[in-house]
Amino acid sequence: MKPRPRYSHPIHEVIQKRWSPRAFSDRPVSEEQALTLFEAARWAASCFNEQPWRFIWSLKDGSAKYQKLFNCLNESNQEWAGSAPLLILTLTKTTFSATGKANRWASHDLGLAIGNLTTQASLMDLYVHNMAGFSRKEATARFDLPEDLEPLTMIAVGWLGDPETLSDKDQQSEHQVQTRKDLADLFL
Ligand SMILES: Cc1cc2nc3c(=O)[nH]c(=O)nc-3n(C[C@H](O)[C@H](O)[C@H](O)COP(=O)(O)O)c2cc1C
Repeated sequence: MKPRPRYSHPIHEVIQKRWSPRAFSDRPVSEEQALTLFEAARWAASCFNEQPWRFIWSLKDGSAKYQKLFNCLNESNQEWAGSAPLLILTLTKTTFSATGKANRWASHDLGLAIGNLTTQASLMDLYVHNMAGFSRKEATARFDLPEDLEPLTMIAVGWLGDPETLSDKDQQSEHQVQTRKDLADLFL
């Protein structure tokens, strides 16, 4: 059991329970459960309601699409993320549809969408692990992405698993308490 941190102010348990595991159980995620997560993402706020978030995703179903996603991950993420039943590549549409101008808020808005997805996941007892460790170049080439779609992160989603299945290095963080800057350090 992951030790839980001390919170300086009471926050909702759905926020408290979130952390980024590397060990996932072999329990599958259904298509309906995956779509529920994306539905939560869909209802995030965005600048000019542009909804600049896009997703390429696959359940761990032996498909070529799943394999393509997995192959985009760097080696250290491949070591553990292969146990997750759902892999997602997140992308931003970097220009506004109406004007063609650069959307400086696209990453912000994708983050809001992932926040929604993560909260929905927690409510379903699912866990989300974001990853910057993947090749944007590979993702762009393998999925033949147009210029205005920028891969931002990959995400592993699944049910909590047994940390013993991980390498020694990865096992450690499963047992460590989450740390954060003090609240006062965030204020200028
Ligand atoms: C944008 C982003 C990129 C991340 N990239 C990776 C990654 O490539 N590999 C990894 O194991 N964890 C990655 N993480 C997870 C962070 O290390 C983790 O969220 C952080 O240490 C805080 O831990 P917690 O999520 O358990 O609270 C990433 C998280 C975010 C938000």
